[in-house]
Amino acid sequence: MATLAEPEQDFTRLPEMPEDVFTAPLKKPDHVGDDWLEPKQTEYSSEDDAIWNDLFARQMDMLPGRAASSFMAGLQKLNLNRGGVPEFGKLSEDLGALTGWSVVPVPMLIPDHVFFWHLANRRFPAGNFIRTRETFDYIQEPDVFHDVFGHVPMLTDPVYADYMQEYGKAGWKAMRYNRLKALGSLYWYTVEFGLIEEKPGDIRAYGAGILSGPTEAVYSVEAESPNRIMLNVDRVMRTDYVISDLQPTYFVIPSFEDLYRQTVERDFDKLYKSLGAGFTYANTAVIDVDYVVNRGTLEYTLRGGRGSGAKPV
Ligand SMILES: [Fe+2]
Repeated sequence: MATLAEPEQDFTRLPEMPEDVFTAPLKKPDHVGDDWLEPKQTEYSSEDDAIWNDLFARQMDMLPGRAASSFMAGLQKLNLNRGGVPEFGKLSEDLGALTGWSVVPVPMLIPDHVFFWHLANRRFPAGNFIRTRETFDYIQEPDVFHDVFGHVPMLTDPVYADYMQEYGKAGWKAMRYNRLKALGSLYWYTVEFGLIEEKPGDIRAYGAGILSGPTEAVYSVEAESPNRIMLNVDRVMRTDYVISDLQPTYFVIPSFEDLYRQTVERDFDKLYKSLGAGFTYANTAVIDVDYVVNRGTLEYTLRGGRGSGAKPV
């Protein structure tokens, strides 16, 4: 069977980037090597730890009943409520015993090919810095709270953990076809903003972008504005997305097994060959092949979204 991963690719060392592949230009800080890993995790101040604790408490007011069961279980299994920014060594020990993943510190967003390589080796790169009180509600660059609180609990779920590794392997194929944008869309609508229907009518969030912020945790599962559509990988990879506002459309999976099957068993060579260089569908669109869970009013988006004063309803 054709698979998402490249069977001949050796992921034990960082593969060479093909020269003709475009990725976002990022300037590597001098103190990190080609793997972009920090030599050690930041030593956080007591104010940093207090910011973590306050963010944690705020999310725990929102998430029960709205976050996926696997996420809530992951928080418990990793004791992420022990207070202060978690120490990555201990976190990796606990996570490693569960699914073989570790958490490694990086200074900032890292280049795609390096990010994929870490995922392919079951290492999750996490931002080393934490936001300030001034940026408490919203930051665009992922910090340690987004990365560790938002992403790491899901890595305790064995099927989801395998999906993330396969995603990393798939990145290399996407680069060769110059289709990183399409694969990025899949990441966006699953890993960052994914919803799961755990029982009929019981939709929860598993995406880290949702779970690490207060507004979208409620809006994504309860508001009337957004569309909620069952995930179809081919459709999602053709769908545009916004990075600086609440999503007008979410994609829902019935289970992590289904997500794994839809991606790992899809012939991505064929899929990439069939995709144009840009996106086909607007992020507000509902199309004829969609299996729609809720058709949204799009009220929040049509009123102008963030900055317009529109309520996220
Ligand atoms: Fe993220």
